[in-house]
Amino acid sequence: MSNIESVLNEIRVFKPSAEFVKQANVSGMGAYRTLADAAQKDYTGYWAKLARENILWRKPFTKTLDESNAPFFKWFEDGELNVSYNCLDKHLATQAEKTAIIFEADDGKVSKINYRDLYARVCQFANGLKSRGIKKGDRVIIYLPMSIEAAVAMQACARIGAIHSVVFGGFSAKSLHERITDAQACAVITADAQMRGGKVMPLKSIVDEALTMEGCDVVKHVIIYRRAGNEMQFNAPRDAWWHDLVAKQKTTCEPEWVGAEHPLFILYTSGSTGKPKGVQHSSGGYLLGAILTMQWVFDYKPTDIFWCTADVGWITGHSYVAYGPLAVGATQVMYEGIPTFPDAGRFWKMIQNHKVTTFYTAPTAIRSLIKLGSDLPKQYDLSSLRLLGTVGEPINPEAWMWYYNTVGQTRCPIVDTWWQTETGCHMIAPLPGAVPTKPGSCTLPIPGIQVAVVDELGNEVGTNQGGSLVITKSFPSQIRTIWGDPERFKKNYFPKEMRGAYLAGDSANRDEDGYIWIMGRNDDVLKVSGHRLGTMEIESALVANPLVAEAAVVGRPHDIKGESIVAFVVLKSARPTEAAKAKEIVEILRNWVSKEIGPIAKPDEIRFGDNLPKTRSGKIMRRLLRAIANGEEITQDVSTLENPAILEQLKEVVR
Ligand code: PRX
Repeated sequence: MSNIESVLNEIRVFKPSAEFVKQANVSGMGAYRTLADAAQKDYTGYWAKLARENILWRKPFTKTLDESNAPFFKWFEDGELNVSYNCLDKHLATQAEKTAIIFEADDGKVSKINYRDLYARVCQFANGLKSRGIKKGDRVIIYLPMSIEAAVAMQACARIGAIHSVVFGGFSAKSLHERITDAQACAVITADAQMRGGKVMPLKSIVDEALTMEGCDVVKHVIIYRRAGNEMQFNAPRDAWWHDLVAKQKTTCEPEWVGAEHPLFILYTSGSTGKPKGVQHSSGGYLLGAILTMQWVFDYKPTDIFWCTADVGWITGHSYVAYGPLAVGATQVMYEGIPTFPDAGRFWKMIQNHKVTTFYTAPTAIRSLIKLGSDLPKQYDLSSLRLLGTVGEPINPEAWMWYYNTVGQTRCPIVDTWWQTETGCHMIAPLPGAVPTKPGSCTLPIPGIQVAVVDELGNEVGTNQGGSLVITKSFPSQIRTIWGDPERFKKNYFPKEMRGAYLAGDSANRDEDGYIWIMGRNDDVLKVSGHRLGTMEIESALVANPLVAEAAVVGRPHDIKGESIVAFVVLKSARPTEAAKAKEIVEILRNWVSKEIGPIAKPDEIRFGDNLPKTRSGKIMRRLLRAIANGEEITQDVSTLENPAILEQLKEVVR
């Protein structure tokens, strides 16, 4: 509840400056309403018009929306296109020389590539994939560092109609294995290593480890980009160096024309069970969402230097690195490393050096940079900036104000963009030349998107009342299904009580101006430094350890990370009472989770009990565990607790 109150106390409103409004793609609230009204009047006509105007179709679509098999919606189904053609070929006649990507490596080395060369490299790589027999519909895992090659690999898959599934470089061999087998991928594109903060972090060896696991013999091709030159195993004929694969390939490649519903990619994300979900996106609808939000929310102008700091391993890096910016023909910055290397001024220095106009990052990065040097931005020339954005978790009004005052120097609107892996593009976000902003609110839905805040029965709640956020109408960029699990897709996102609306999994409220305030997830999903992690996933990892009998994981608010991970563990042996022993087991288990899922899922704290607090019917009392993790006074009724004495044990922090 304190969360709800704190956002409701926020009453500051920031109107876009007259200067910004004048130049904006959607200029003024009148223009915003005209678009939103057009969608109200003729929903499918509205999207059809936008899809015709913004996408180059090989074969025009005649049907806009097919709802006959809801919630398996189909958009623009009989249209044919190629996403890579829309991102690259489209620009060759008009701006081939324009820089597409300014890549800055971890060590500061900068390389630039223009649209013509990017096109040629994508074609060569696409031909390389084809030379290995990889074809339309095949699944290809991409496990690469942030690099021009990552964008090339994604675009090349799109070009030949192969379905990519990018796995974030911070995931472990086990996680990689899980995704490879679920997607039944025939190829993995990786690098020898990635460079982060001056350190060489091997990737290929993790792929090798994953490929020794059960079911991974489906992978017939491993393509390796040489990044760090570190030692690694090379297993011919399965393995091929990227540079060898492309060496003799032609620099043109006829795109594979696909239906609008052809899956462009699968991206795994955490849900409320132990198994990640393969979120399947379409080609046409997804591309439309990325393009429109580049224009509306990022107010894209051809003179912009756009920089989204997200890794391509996440949806943000798909929509606003690999696809959106290229589809609109932008020049974008891509960065290999971390925000704090060699110091916390790195982002500001890069904005200065590359004259970034549009900067998009996560609240967790903003908060950590405030902590490490709130005055640092002042040492750099940030006058090129005209627009700032945030994504991934709620931004607290204090961090918002700092971003606004210190980074944007009160000149730049902030677009707080609410969306999800499943929505493909921004859903609720201010159009910066139209919608006044309030710190901590993602404001209003983008034109055409219909949202509501509802109770458990799907009825709309009143103004300023908390409830579940739903999207009431199908929209082009939405998730099509969970790869291989349509039942889970239906149950998870379209439960009966929601009467056809898409259930986002977030709680929110709407204020008297119609502004949405996101309060956080209301399922068992955590947001740790912007990374989405399922508590069940971490619990399953813990109980897979031979020492562990039972585990429960909860989130605890954290100043910088948003949430931190607290695990309550019952060991098979007796609860360790000696501090040194407890500490040793904590370290074993933290490293274990890191191996099982990846370093991003390491619990911040592990506590031990003889058992876990359960109701008499055997349900773990998570709310109680959250209160314990938070050090709160326990006010809940614990009379149904099987063994009240363990509460004292679980309050004990291992130091
Ligand atoms: O809880 C919401 C939070 O991130 C979740 C989606 O996570 P993911 O699929 O990893 O995608 C993140 C990047 C789009 C949401 O359910 N979230 C995302 N953006 C915001 C947010 N919470 C508050 N404000 C936001 N702007």
